[in-house]
Amino acid sequence: MSWIGREALTDKPEISEEEVKGALDRASAQVVRNLDPFTEKFPKAYSVNGFYEATENVDWTTGFWTGEIWLAYEHTGDERLRRAGEIQMDSFLDRIKRRVEVETHDLGFLYSPSCVAGYKLTGSQTGREAALAAVEALIGRFHEKGRFIQAWGPLDAPDNYRLIIDSLLNLPLLYWATEETGDGRFSDIAEKHIHSTLSNVVRPDYSTWHTFFFDRETGAPDHGATCQGYRDGSAWARGQAWGIYGTAIGYRYTKRAAYIPLFAGVADYFLAHLPEDLVPFWDLSFGDGDDQPRDSSSASIAACGMLEMAKYLDGERSAYYRGIAKKLIKALADHYAVTDPALSNGLVLHSTYSNHSPYNTCDHYGVDECNIWGDYFYMEALTRLYKDWEMYW
Ligand code: GLY
Repeated sequence: MSWIGREALTDKPEISEEEVKGALDRASAQVVRNLDPFTEKFPKAYSVNGFYEATENVDWTTGFWTGEIWLAYEHTGDERLRRAGEIQMDSFLDRIKRRVEVETHDLGFLYSPSCVAGYKLTGSQTGREAALAAVEALIGRFHEKGRFIQAWGPLDAPDNYRLIIDSLLNLPLLYWATEETGDGRFSDIAEKHIHSTLSNVVRPDYSTWHTFFFDRETGAPDHGATCQGYRDGSAWARGQAWGIYGTAIGYRYTKRAAYIPLFAGVADYFLAHLPEDLVPFWDLSFGDGDDQPRDSSSASIAACGMLEMAKYLDGERSAYYRGIAKKLIKALADHYAVTDPALSNGLVLHSTYSNHSPYNTCDHYGVDECNIWGDYFYMEALTRLYKDWEMYW
């Protein structure tokens, strides 16, 4: 296996303004084409042979599709998109009221790009009500002793007293709620969780743990483990990308100076493990020459994190991360984006949801397919490059 190394990034091309617009136009047109099957229903988390099937609003991933609708609405102003977004917010309100599959920390993934976005863009009271109800459910998963929000499973499950790196993206929902209501409980919990996460998931070489356990009796940090990475101690590509975006979000909301070098280290580890075409394999231990699938979604997530952090850095460092993001998105737009709707109803090919290995604990599905967050974050990155974007997060 081999990686190109960060120095070689210098020679890679950046996406131009014109290319950004073209890619965003194509993505928005694909979203509009998908409104028919996916307004009353939602695309599944991953495609099968390039095509998403329809599902009810039951998975942790459905908010990404509504987020795509809002991004396309921002880009085009097409009222059909707004109407579809409103119908979907009704579904999210119903879901949280009936507590359908909401015993998870993924409430930020679900309610930020759907309902907070809809509220910010249209003033929807349905969106506001649904998102605030999700906030109450999310803080119910906070463990005072361990000072973290439990990721998965029932709160008394003996084997699940842990957080996962992905969780950092769920916290903007809590900051939004504090801003909206003036209730400091939400941001206080978010800040504690960010600190518990970033103090424990980043290893000395700046690779990251996917999941991290605490001692249920004392609340003390215990040990890291992977679920979706290749093995314990390797760096799951998407986990590293969640870490890049997560540290940027951590800095955005807390302004803790220590998170700047942490972001730089986590981003640098990711960049040092890119293959020739800049789209990571599903685990960063793999590189060119390995017969392994890619996770294109990790490139989009990392690009969004770099574009977010670039806002807070000084001139040269800001330009560096913005430039890298443009290179990652150029690679996706040129070689991974769907250009023919007859071949796929998604936006970006070659992503990996859950790849079983001899050493990990996950099941095998959604490998080398589109997935719905890969599509969403690709559009988010393009939108960030296209204009000064007000975050849904
Ligand atoms: N947040 C779950 C995943 O990235 O697969």
